[in-house]
Amino acid sequence: MSDTNSLSKKTYYVTTPIYYPSGKLHIGHTYTTVAADALARFKRETGHEVVFLTGTDEHGQKIQASAIAQGLDPKTYVDGMVADIKKIWKSMEISYDIFIRTTDEHHKTAVQHIFQTLYDKGDIYKGEYKGWYCTPCESFWTETQLEEGHKCPDCHREAQLTSEEAYFFKLSKYQDRLIQYYEDHPEICLPASRKNEMLNNFLKPGLDDLCVSRTSFDWGIKVPFDEKHVIYVWLDALSNYITALGWGSQENPELYNKFWPADVHLMAKEIVRFHTIIWPIMLMAMDLPLPKKVFGHGWILFGEDKMSKSKGNIIYPEPFIQRYGIDALKYFLLREFTFGQDGNFTNTLFIQRYNSDLANDLGNLVSRTVAMIQQYNEGIIPQAEEKAPVDDELRNIAVEAAGKVEAAIDEMQFHEALEEIWKIVRRSNKYIDETTPWILAKEEAQKPRLNTVLNHLAESLRIVSLLIRPFMGHTAAEIQQQLGLAN
Ligand code: ME8
Repeated sequence: MSDTNSLSKKTYYVTTPIYYPSGKLHIGHTYTTVAADALARFKRETGHEVVFLTGTDEHGQKIQASAIAQGLDPKTYVDGMVADIKKIWKSMEISYDIFIRTTDEHHKTAVQHIFQTLYDKGDIYKGEYKGWYCTPCESFWTETQLEEGHKCPDCHREAQLTSEEAYFFKLSKYQDRLIQYYEDHPEICLPASRKNEMLNNFLKPGLDDLCVSRTSFDWGIKVPFDEKHVIYVWLDALSNYITALGWGSQENPELYNKFWPADVHLMAKEIVRFHTIIWPIMLMAMDLPLPKKVFGHGWILFGEDKMSKSKGNIIYPEPFIQRYGIDALKYFLLREFTFGQDGNFTNTLFIQRYNSDLANDLGNLVSRTVAMIQQYNEGIIPQAEEKAPVDDELRNIAVEAAGKVEAAIDEMQFHEALEEIWKIVRRSNKYIDETTPWILAKEEAQKPRLNTVLNHLAESLRIVSLLIRPFMGHTAAEIQQQLGLAN
């Protein structure tokens, strides 16, 4: 890992999407948040000052409809849902620093400020919206973008034809600047395949101006100068990444000055479009810096389909946590799926990973090492004495792992980071088989060699425990405790 002191002044700002509090969160939401948590923890451990932001996206037609369906006013409804969301993050020990709710007063003030600024600048104008709206996605579509039967191209459910007076945001004015920005800053949209998709499917064909207000319902932030309009929920939601830092509501927002632009916005692929087109253009229009990275990971599928609250094909994290613990779930999510690609969640895969990687590979290594140190050296980790080439092989893998783990994490390749750590684990198990400590223990003359082997095993496990700490805090602490290492 990097030298803590030399990095002590660096900051790191990571965000998850702000989730809709319109149903219980499932494994899909857990996935993004667990990744962001591991990243935040890793950055803290490598000497960064971190802000890890998450929260809830509480306005819009969908939430209002869910509240009505339960016979509640929207605020009462979201308060209950948000309490549940915070509970799940607490039970998973998610180390967020800020939890923003779009119903927070400071957020509402700042969003109105953004709307007013864009209007005063002439980038927002009043017009008439005629087109199609998908309420589950809170997305506007033109007739030609729809699939057959007027279905939303994202979620494949029926969109509604709407016609209302509305305000529009001049996305088209910024499209060439954004295309140039993509050229100069390829990390604005990762992985690269998604950047090409944004360029070819949206930016190059030309952007339509975006409808940014609604009048057909009222659960939202009001347009400051025209109160029968509420601000489009995506404009409201995207702003959270700066309003959470105090932008737009504080005189001289210290957090904003220190942490913006974000180092990375994490999300799944279906909302990359909002984060790499609308959000950058909002920021450009306000002369604010753009986020350094936007990373769209794949979907966790259940069967062939994306899990989603509204489709009802859902896996929840709670049963896995209760049965296997949070570390096992976090490990599985980040190790099994390639961050950036879709993957299928099945119980069989979970149990296979649990048994092979955690119980067999790591569990056995810890128990064998601890038992041998106990049995052959009275529970004390011995000094290394007599060396052999096989020791260096193990040592090199362990020593080189830290740099590889850091590089993989910086590329958001969490599965690779864990694979690097497991190379140490597997090499250590092989090392036990090769060095056969139980045979060495039979002859007093072999004690110096035995000591070296035990020392190398303990040292490998110490390194493993440090490297897995951002991913699996409990397992790391347990290994350190079993080896008698101070934290
Ligand atoms: O889109 N696989 O909120 P949301 C992987 N409020 N990730 C998944 C997933 C799956 N099956 N299902 C959900 C919204 N996710 C907006 C965001 S941000 C300014 C506003 C994760 O509650 C993934 O991160 O629908 C996805 O992007 C997010 O949950 C969508 O959450």
